[in-house]
Amino acid sequence: MKTYDLVYKRSLDNVADFWAEAAENIDWFKRWDSVLDDSNPPHYRWFPSGKMNTCHNALDRHVNNGHGERLAVIYDSPVTAAKRTLSYKELQQQVALFAGVLSSKGITKGDRVIIYMPMVPETLVAILACARIGAVHSVVFGGFAAQELATRIEDAGPKAIVSASCGIEPNRIVEYKPLLDSAIELSAHKPDHCFILQRPEATASMEKNRDIDWHESMAKAEPQDCVVVDANDPLYILYTSGTTGQPKGIVRDNGGHAVALHWTMKNIYGVEPGEVYWAASDVGWIVGHSYIVYAPLLNGNTTIMFEGKPVGTPDAGAFWRVVSEHKVTCMFTAPTAFRAIKQQDPDGVLAKNYDLSGLRSLFLAGERCDPDTLEWAGRLLKVPVIDHWWQTETGWAIASNCLGIEKLPVKAGSAARPVPGWQVDILDKNGRSLPAGKVGAIACKLPLPPGTFPGLWRAEQRYRDAYLNNFPGYYETGDAGYIDEDGYVFVMARTDDIINVAGHRLSTGAMEEVLSAHPDVAECAVIGVADQLKGQLPLGLLVLKAGSRQNHDDIVNDVVRMVREQIGPVAAFKQAVVVAQLPKTRSGKILRGTMRRIADNEEYRMPATIENPEVLDQISESMQKIGYAKPE
Ligand code: COA
Ligand code: AMP
Repeated sequence: MKTYDLVYKRSLDNVADFWAEAAENIDWFKRWDSVLDDSNPPHYRWFPSGKMNTCHNALDRHVNNGHGERLAVIYDSPVTAAKRTLSYKELQQQVALFAGVLSSKGITKGDRVIIYMPMVPETLVAILACARIGAVHSVVFGGFAAQELATRIEDAGPKAIVSASCGIEPNRIVEYKPLLDSAIELSAHKPDHCFILQRPEATASMEKNRDIDWHESMAKAEPQDCVVVDANDPLYILYTSGTTGQPKGIVRDNGGHAVALHWTMKNIYGVEPGEVYWAASDVGWIVGHSYIVYAPLLNGNTTIMFEGKPVGTPDAGAFWRVVSEHKVTCMFTAPTAFRAIKQQDPDGVLAKNYDLSGLRSLFLAGERCDPDTLEWAGRLLKVPVIDHWWQTETGWAIASNCLGIEKLPVKAGSAARPVPGWQVDILDKNGRSLPAGKVGAIACKLPLPPGTFPGLWRAEQRYRDAYLNNFPGYYETGDAGYIDEDGYVFVMARTDDIINVAGHRLSTGAMEEVLSAHPDVAECAVIGVADQLKGQLPLGLLVLKAGSRQNHDDIVNDVVRMVREQIGPVAAFKQAVVVAQLPKTRSGKILRGTMRRIADNEEYRMPATIENPEVLDQISESMQKIGYAKPE
């Protein structure tokens, strides 16, 4: 048997030994009683009664082991022309101080803290300070609008919010504070305090008695030590798109998370402590949580916080500059970033200006990776390009070529084989396993490995309904695909109304809720149409109320503005079209899949249950007017 097969088999035959061994690599204040508590399926608990602290493992452990001078973080910000580094010792000091700031305001273990911040080192400090005192952080991506932030404030019920005066996009300064103030206004829950980092690019107005200046509070703070938390205490909540406007609060625990993420650095990414690892994402997403913050620090790597874009900051050579300047050994980003670079520099001329010889591998995830992009990146960088598949829910990869175990042959279009710990199956709608090559729902046998999610924040029924009930004994991933005869997993599409725009996971249901609120809109649908750069883009279809006299262009402009204001610019909702009717089944279900195929010019079969087949031609004509559904 090959090494991968042996390790994979052992991870399933000997679950307890496998993860107990991995758990030896982190510090425990008190060892666990058992590796896995499986007495209450479908709920499983890893390392019950183990006591530890994630921040201790990410920082103090390395400092105590004599690595305090090693670089923990490199901040590289082309948008502000700033660079800064922090050693493990320096980061530990900053984190201990901010933990002291939080404690001095009465924030303790179990309290929630929302972090609405740009890509600056203080964000990392705030996250780890929460972990240090056992507070549960919930980071909200900066590209969301006030309404989305408000929804998260209301659901998480934070005692405090940490934010900054602004984030910086290449084309504008995004003032965060007005968005934060209006989110707090919209939310029924109000935080006691907001800690605000004033950045030179914008000055936030402060509210007396509530808002506290980051720098002033740090100057007065007393450092705070790590508190002891239970392995199963929550470390964070990360909201992600579900099928409705109400996002799902994915909960992560402390113990299993630290064990699993530490394991992935060596085994999946093949990275050793002390090396520089770069995930070019944003801390607001799961990739940022796991691979900008926690995993690299747990493993004693140097992580990079890059406040810039793959193109335009200043050019399509930005990634190559960072890789060569900071001696990156392993890089991780979304395929869309490479498509953006390829679009502007198809021959990779800019890469030739830099020494990229230190780079050993490139990992891609967040969306399906088209073979063209994978092959282009491989030709350019001459290193293995690894597509791997995971989700906010899982926290780390379900399927990947595990470079630290054994490099398997790469098959473009596939995320390779299940990572040790994961039992992946393809099921038909009755929950029966499908043979190799057949497309079905991708599901993972329970229990999921450590570091995944024990549930949704205060939404037990939704957790069961969304993930567990359809296929008893399995976690339903919401993705569809197949496994080939060599055991390679091909992830093809979502089975729900989630779309993937530039590697960002978005809910079309949430956008439909916004569109429906327009006074002239009787009915609507949002579908994800193919886009060469961003993978998918949302497209709205609007049916107007009888008697609506508004100009169609005005209505389209209105709904575009509404989505931007209520969900945020990240939704990239820029196109909608007015149609006479939506195609529906006889039971009234809107045929979104058929409309998507029409828009993308794919072949489709007339659904047997369609109520109004005649509208499909009209839909196609309306789409053609805005550049879709065009025959080749
Ligand atoms: N704060 C405020 N606004 C933000 C933001 C943030 N943190 N991030 C993005 N936005 C805004 C952008 O300014 C843009 O607004 P606009 O409509 O006014 O131009 C909008 O949200 C869409 O942003 P983005 O998705 O970044 O698209 P883009 O066209 O500006 O750039 C790419 C395209 C491909 C370069 C970019 O999407 C990218 O770098 N993608 C990588 C994806 C990634 O890292 N995914 C994480 C999972 S690994
Ligand atoms: P997120 O929770 O934001 O990480 O988005 C997870 C979703 O992105 C998955 O359910 C997939 O639909 C998609 N996805 C992530 N990685 C891949 C991949 N390597 N191949 C195909 N789809 C992917």
